[in-house]
Amino acid sequence: MDNFVIYNPTTLHFGKGVVEKLGNIVRHHGTRVLLVYGKGSVKKSGAYDDVMRQLINEGVGVIEYSGIKPNPIIEDVDAAASLGREKKVDVIVAVGGGSVIDSAKAIAITIPVKHSGWEFYAGKAKPSKAVPLFGVLTLAATGTEMNQFAVIQNHSAGQKNGYGHPLMYPAHSFLDPTYTLSVPKDHTAYGIADLMAHCLENYFSRVEASLTDRFIFSILREAIEFGPELLNNLNNYTLRARIMYAATAALNGLTVIGKGMGDWGVHAIGHHLSLLYGLPHGATLTIIYPAWLKFWKHKTAGQIEKLGKEVFGVHGVEETITSLESFFRQIECPVRMSEAIPSGFDVPELHGLLVKNRAGGNHFKYTPSQMQDLLKLAL
Ligand code: NZQ
Ligand code: ZN
Repeated sequence: MDNFVIYNPTTLHFGKGVVEKLGNIVRHHGTRVLLVYGKGSVKKSGAYDDVMRQLINEGVGVIEYSGIKPNPIIEDVDAAASLGREKKVDVIVAVGGGSVIDSAKAIAITIPVKHSGWEFYAGKAKPSKAVPLFGVLTLAATGTEMNQFAVIQNHSAGQKNGYGHPLMYPAHSFLDPTYTLSVPKDHTAYGIADLMAHCLENYFSRVEASLTDRFIFSILREAIEFGPELLNNLNNYTLRARIMYAATAALNGLTVIGKGMGDWGVHAIGHHLSLLYGLPHGATLTIIYPAWLKFWKHKTAGQIEKLGKEVFGVHGVEETITSLESFFRQIECPVRMSEAIPSGFDVPELHGLLVKNRAGGNHFKYTPSQMQDLLKLAL
């Protein structure tokens, strides 16, 4: 087990009606709110009306920035930050899924500076201040509601990068599973896949920490037991709540305690599939994970076997990989690129960008020819 520090300053409010506390809490942090949301799902889920009522009742001013795209882009971050700067906002409230909350985190550190938010992502600047951020989550998947990371695309730089800083933790996050009842089946499944992938990225760190591994197995078992049931009962509050909490627990620090650093190579490769082909994040992971396990099984056989035994109740490396792949199929996620992009895609272009950006994990790295071999397994 590695040395570790546990630090997570986000206050998480979970359950039915928790947004009723939002107005009062926000009011203690400021009076001019930048309200950030996506393309309109918040109006269907009821989250927008509830949040607006809270803010209006407290008499705070609200400036809206909407239209954040899935797989969010730096142009929106910069435009929202200049609006926030111009209107002198002192609080950000983000209502939506991972793309909205990630954008809001990047906006929060960009408002106090004069340069593009991308400078942080390119490693050219570090934030020293941030506007306090409040999240209202409407989609269970990323864990962004209780972590310090935000993933943003920059098409002109040809990159989709993650960046994290302690100033980027939301001050408070409000998770009412009721708002996730309207998430369609495909995005519900991508969320289940994403939370599982977060467990796996941390599991395949190079350090064993037995209790943390047991947390990981528990979260995976929760997803495997209740995920398919939820997909058949999208309106079931209890199942939505179980998956929502599992997604938070998968990436709020719990699954990496004592394990050093996760690998994150599957995410790094998956981000290129989103960047080039616009694939939803979870779908990129269900394509790359089976290929990753097949490619690295000679180095991770013991870990894969243990995963199979503890999570799927199977014995052996091949059986474990097949079980994971079958589970992803069962929840109707693509497990090959050809299933996600039937019209075909440009392998040399994808490979070239992966090599140029040195896509790989913290522990498992690739030569250009190894990357080619891994991609072949994902075709
Ligand atoms: O734009 P709107 O209208 O809100 O629609 C969204 C979007 O089309 C919709 N949606 C959200 N809540 C809904 C809903 N539809 C109906 N009812 C609701 N209640 O769902 C679509 C996808 O939303 P998005 O926010 O893009 O999904 P997700 O939460 O999966 O976020 C994905 C982004 O998060 C990043 C990913 O790379 C990707 O860019 N990640 C962030 C991480 C982090 N910060 O820690 C870690 C993850 O590994 C991941 O990389
Ligand atoms: Zn993810």
